[in-house]
Amino acid sequence: MTVVSTVEEVRKQVKEWRRQGLTVGLVPTMGYLHEGHASLIAASHRDNDKTVVSDFVNPIQFGPSEDLESYPRDIEHDKKLAEQNGADLIFHPEPEEMYHEGFSTHVDMDVLTKELCGLSRPGHFRGVCTVVTKLFNIVKPDRAYFGKKDAQQLAVIKHMVNDLNMDIEIIGCPIIREADGLAKSSRNTYLNEQERKAALILSRSISLGIDMVRNGETDAHRITDMMKDEIAKEPLAKADYVKIVDCETMQQIPTLDRPALCAIAVYINNKVRLIDNFFTEDI
Ligand code: PAF
Repeated sequence: MTVVSTVEEVRKQVKEWRRQGLTVGLVPTMGYLHEGHASLIAASHRDNDKTVVSDFVNPIQFGPSEDLESYPRDIEHDKKLAEQNGADLIFHPEPEEMYHEGFSTHVDMDVLTKELCGLSRPGHFRGVCTVVTKLFNIVKPDRAYFGKKDAQQLAVIKHMVNDLNMDIEIIGCPIIREADGLAKSSRNTYLNEQERKAALILSRSISLGIDMVRNGETDAHRITDMMKDEIAKEPLAKADYVKIVDCETMQQIPTLDRPALCAIAVYINNKVRLIDNFFTEDI
């Protein structure tokens, strides 16, 4: 496995693979890789001849008061995990390589991005769409892999690829959880022991919602109200949102009469914002 830091090096390698008639998968990440990323890399390795992992903390998807500076980074660990799971190339650029002086073109989506996480993180999806478009243009993969934990991001990327006629298959991969249920996230490292315990409220309320759907509940508000009550039982937790939305439009729906996404965002100790979700179709 090779690690490169320039666009030119990625292009040169991918061109060579293309010349050999090989297929290429891309796993975009912000590094600090965990088993969730490992599952995406392994899926790409299974589906494609070659796998590129991008490892880049994208400054333009962070708001001014967010955790850009403190976002965890560990390229040596990332190299090992990526290689063990079948990556062939890591693209690890400096911010200047991605955003040269005078950079001024962004990809902005009018729909999907103003709901859920978009409400509390204005500009976030503009940053995500812009960097993912750049990565797609640099690597030109056949397939790209994203986790279902960032369900809104996955919907936004699929919509963008369709709107802009990008010839790339977008694959959504299942949420990977710790043994006790907490969804894997690089941001879990921000939690101290007490907060880590409190964070289990996310997967507990998700399980509650899943049970209600399994038992035939179709009233979206009844489900989200019960989940909010559950979250309120944990003193260190504060719900940002608990919503059931149409999978494609991200608009809230009153009844589970179509494929739906139940998504939550919860602040732990007013410090760490974590997300979790379930798709009714996966139940
Ligand atoms: O999901 C992430 O880690 C990031 O949002 C992504 C897709 C790598 C873009 O920076």
